[in-house]
Parts: sequence; C-alpha cells; structure tokens
Amino acid sequence: EKIVLAYSGGLDTSVILKWLKETYDAEIIAFTADIGQKEELDGLEEKALATGASKIYIDDLRDEFASDFIQPMFQAGALYEGQYLLGTSIARPLIAKRMVEIARAEGATAIAHGATGKGNDQVRFELTAAALAPEIKVIAPWRSEAFREQFPGRAEMIAYAEKHGIPVQASAAKPYSMDRNLLHISFESGILEDPWFDPSADENKEMFVLSVSPEDAPNTAEYIELSFEQGNCVAINGDAHTPLQMMEKLNELGGKHGIGRVDMVENRFVGMKSRGVYETPGGTILFTAHRKMESLTMDREVMHLRDSLIAKYSNLVYNGFWFAPERLAIQALVQESQKNVTGTVRLKLYKGNVIGAGVKSPVSLYNPDIATMEADPTQAYDQNDATGFIQLNALRLKVSAGVHSASATT
Ligand code: ARG
Ligand code: SIN
Repeated sequence: EKIVLAYSGGLDTSVILKWLKETYDAEIIAFTADIGQKEELDGLEEKALATGASKIYIDDLRDEFASDFIQPMFQAGALYEGQYLLGTSIARPLIAKRMVEIARAEGATAIAHGATGKGNDQVRFELTAAALAPEIKVIAPWRSEAFREQFPGRAEMIAYAEKHGIPVQASAAKPYSMDRNLLHISFESGILEDPWFDPSADENKEMFVLSVSPEDAPNTAEYIELSFEQGNCVAINGDAHTPLQMMEKLNELGGKHGIGRVDMVENRFVGMKSRGVYETPGGTILFTAHRKMESLTMDREVMHLRDSLIAKYSNLVYNGFWFAPERLAIQALVQESQKNVTGTVRLKLYKGNVIGAGVKSPVSLYNPDIATMEADPTQAYDQNDATGFIQLNALRLKVSAGVHSASATT
C-alpha cells in the first residue's frame, strides 16, 4: 500500500509520517507544496527520507496559486464574515488537488493530512479529494483515537521523534499556531484563544511577520497605481507583472505601511467560534483597488447581482467547496461581470490605510455630463421624468400608510 502525506517537515507531520508507516505498514510518499510559505525547503528531502518516506515531491505551486486561485477569488470580491480574505481557505483546495494527482500517478490508495479534527482545513482537504478523486481514501491521524491517545501533547511527540531518530528543530514552539502562504499569514490558538488578548499592543507586536504596526509605518503616504484588465491587476506603477509577482510586490508595499491586519472571532464550518488574527497586506490593497475599479466600469445591476453572491461564494470557499459545481457556476457569472473592469486606480498607502486617490478607465461608465448639477449638454436626463418616477414608486407606500394610520387607535 502507498500513502501520500501532506508533509511540512515540522514535528507534527514528521511524527505522522512515521506513525502512518508503522500503523499501516505502508510506503509513505511525502508531498510538500511551495505556496509561498517561505519555509526552508532545503534539506527537506533528506529529512523526509531519514524519517521513513520512500520519496518526496516538492512542488512549486506559487504561480498556479496566484493565477488560478487567488485571482479568480479576488474577481469575486470574496470576504468571509465581512473581514477575512480567506488566505488559508483558498490554499487548501490547491494542495489537495496536487495531492490526489500525485496519488494517482503513484498508484497510491490513500492520502493523509495533519489537520486536526476540530478545524476547517480537514473539511477543505477532504471535500476537494472527494470532488476530484472519489476513489482515494483519506487518513486523518488526528481524528484517530489511537493516535490522540499516543500523542496527548507535544512532549510525547518529541519523545517519539527522538526514539525514532527523527530530526526535530530545537527552536522553541511559538505560543500560537501560524499558517503562511503567498496571500497571508494566519495566527490562531494558544495565547490568542483569549479574545481580550491584544496582539496589536506594542509589547506583543513581535508576533507579526508580514507587516509593521500602523504606528511604526512611515509618516509619509506612498502613492501607487494599479492597472486592471478584465478584473485582474496586470501592472503596478506601469510595470507589468505575473500574478505571483503582483502578490509579492503588493505584500511588500502593504507590509511597509502596516496594511491588512485583521483580528476577529469567526465561525468555523464545524460549528465553534474561533479567534483568528491575519496579516494580508497585498490582498487588502488588491481588494480595495479592485472594488474601486469596478465602481467606474461595472453596470449597476451586474454589480448588485454579483454583490448578492459574495456571501454565498465566500462561504463556499471557507467551507471547502472550491471544486463544487455551485462555486464554478458563480465563478462563470463573476468572470462575465469582469469583462469591462479595465483601467487604473491610484491609491495612497498610509499607516494601515488604503486610501482611494483617483480612478480612470477607457471604458468608464461614469459620465459627468449626465451626473452634473450644472446644465446637462447631453440632455440624456430630463428632470421632469423624475416626478413620475417618484410618484409611481411612492404609490404603494401611500396606500400602506393610509391603511395603517386609519387603523391606528392612538
Ligand atoms: N481560521 C482560518 C481558516 O479557517 C485559518 C486556519 C489556519 N489553519 C492552520 N492550519 N493553521 O481559514
Ligand atoms: C486545524 O484544525 O488543523 C487548523 C485550524 C482549522 O483548520 O480551522
């Protein structure tokens, strides 16, 4: 039997690797996706082999992540519960997709992951696998009672690693857990479980990685210009880039200006509330710029229709339904809605804020001649028409008011 394991080289997945091999008497193929987590990938192969893997795949998926996952999600304007830009949620279907591809190529019967039984990630991995490769089994060691009994805490895992000659880093564990990729870093659990704990306080600020505190950001605003074509950002300050380069550049700009920190209590798909802290510097700039580009170029009814689907779409991404038919159906509508979202947005980055500073487009729908309070040279709008328009809209309100005030007793 062969099992493909999503492997990071950290303590958890190293222990899982060995445990799977022993428990299932199987050949373990390790898989590490580079999705911009900036972890050390050098030495990972030796480490995986030393831990007992027969083989390791280390795949650079950053371009695919930026162009086929991040971009379409930003075209949709996705935002979970009004705050979360879905940085972890959007990465999981890509990792799982590649994992089942490897499983098929290797003739493996199962894939395994190190997500816990209480979180969203297990759902995202497994719904993706179900949608793309229903014949492949999924093993989630953290949901195995035997595994949890054997490893009630970190100490038992370290002891197990030492016993089996698994190399473990001496670095002290952080008092929270992190998940990093090209789009964001999430921080959860540990000291963050108290929602009154303030990570933005000066004495706690060393937690953050991608951004400075707004208080420490430059005292001078920085202007940038983002050019869009059909809803995708294609150039920053006139320089063309790939989607991957765009994310890297925007992260650097946003991080420098303290942009994109979010601290929230969110609703997990599995039922409980959970406290999450996020750094999404580039994504926050992109999100704001994209909306401003749409404001000039999108038809009102198309915009309102797409907007009515944002909560639905965001829940689908959060809950792990990226490869579900309803996400694809909404995506098709989103793509159609973006065909005229073209032009340039100017922004000012300043101490945690993304401030609109101008927008233009060759296909702008904004017509100052029509909107002006001065005489309209186009004569497209006749103010007399507004009288009837308002009267017809007022009719049912008047009828209703008449009925209800007549029946009122006071
Ligand atoms: N709460 C966020 C989400 O569900 C972040 C999850 C972080 N995952 C992790 N394995 N650390 O998308
Ligand atoms: C985990 O439980 O593995 C991480 C948190 C989450 O998936 O929501």
